[in-house]
Amino acid sequence: MNNQSNYQRGGAPRVAFVTGAASGIGAAVCRLLAAQGVAIAAADHNEAGLATLHESLGCDARFLSAVLDVRDEAAQQAFVRDTESRLGEITDVVPCAGLARSAPAETMSAEQWDLVLDINLRGTFLTCKSTAAVMLPRRRGSIVCLASITAKGGQPGRANYAASKWGLVGLVKSLATEWGNRGVRVNAVAPNGVDTPMLTAGVPDHFRQAVMLDRTPLGRFAQVDEVAQGIAFLLSDAASYISGTVLEIDGGLTAGYLTHRHGTDYALDQH
Ligand SMILES: NC(=O)c1ccc[n+]([C@@H]2O[C@H](COP(=O)([O-])OP(=O)(O)OC[C@H]3O[C@@H](n4cnc5c(N)ncnc54)[C@H](O)[C@@H]3O)[C@@H](O)[C@H]2O)c1
Repeated sequence: MNNQSNYQRGGAPRVAFVTGAASGIGAAVCRLLAAQGVAIAAADHNEAGLATLHESLGCDARFLSAVLDVRDEAAQQAFVRDTESRLGEITDVVPCAGLARSAPAETMSAEQWDLVLDINLRGTFLTCKSTAAVMLPRRRGSIVCLASITAKGGQPGRANYAASKWGLVGLVKSLATEWGNRGVRVNAVAPNGVDTPMLTAGVPDHFRQAVMLDRTPLGRFAQVDEVAQGIAFLLSDAASYISGTVLEIDGGLTAGYLTHRHGTDYALDQH
């Protein structure tokens, strides 16, 4: 029955296909899922980072890796085939590969624009497409993509990144409508700043403090494990009726976009 098809994956072995697995959120997702007994197929273009990840998982983990660029559709399809023959049927997908290249829009080069859109949006689409090709016929699968609080508004200097993440939300919602009745759920998480190399390299200092930290009610950035926990929930059967949603993991930032500044409470002001 259609409405039962993605309910309770029922203890069957799980295999997670994770891109951007060599660092940050992707690596944290791999560690968390591996600790839950999920086999890990890890892709990234950073070979040394994949080796470090493998070491951190310990020798008991069922693990396969591929050095690939997510813009390369044939490479992703080949890794899907390799994963299925060596680890088993792919059940969980987390396209984490991404990057930011900030610049004022009026001087942003076409190459900077294309690079960010190609990796964050087109790369994510190709991961979803390549893995769905094997999950849809089995009517079983869950995908969680990486949006951002940047997909809640605009950010100066980040026109390319914001466009990629708004586009990604459109992609997630479209795939959820297209694949839901074939047993594949598609969701996204929208983190605020997360303590990873991307945050250090991709966001200007003043922006990090003035916009992200000062306006975040919890008053700090997320740790990678806090984002991985949200992703693991959306992947799991505990989220079996959730599809097409974007889960904010943002320390309350977007709850108070208009009003909040950490350390002040406008509601207590006398008028
Ligand atoms: N760190 C944050 O503050 C934050 C906030 C919101 C959303 N995100 C999103 O989370 C995702 C992961 O970011 P992160 O913070 O873990 O960054 P990160 O830099 O720690 O990790 C990104 C990984 O993607 C890989 N990668 C980049 N381009 C690739 C390509 N073309 N092919 C294959 N691999 C590639 C990198 O080698 C790296 O291992 C990104 O999509 C990012 O936009 C991050």
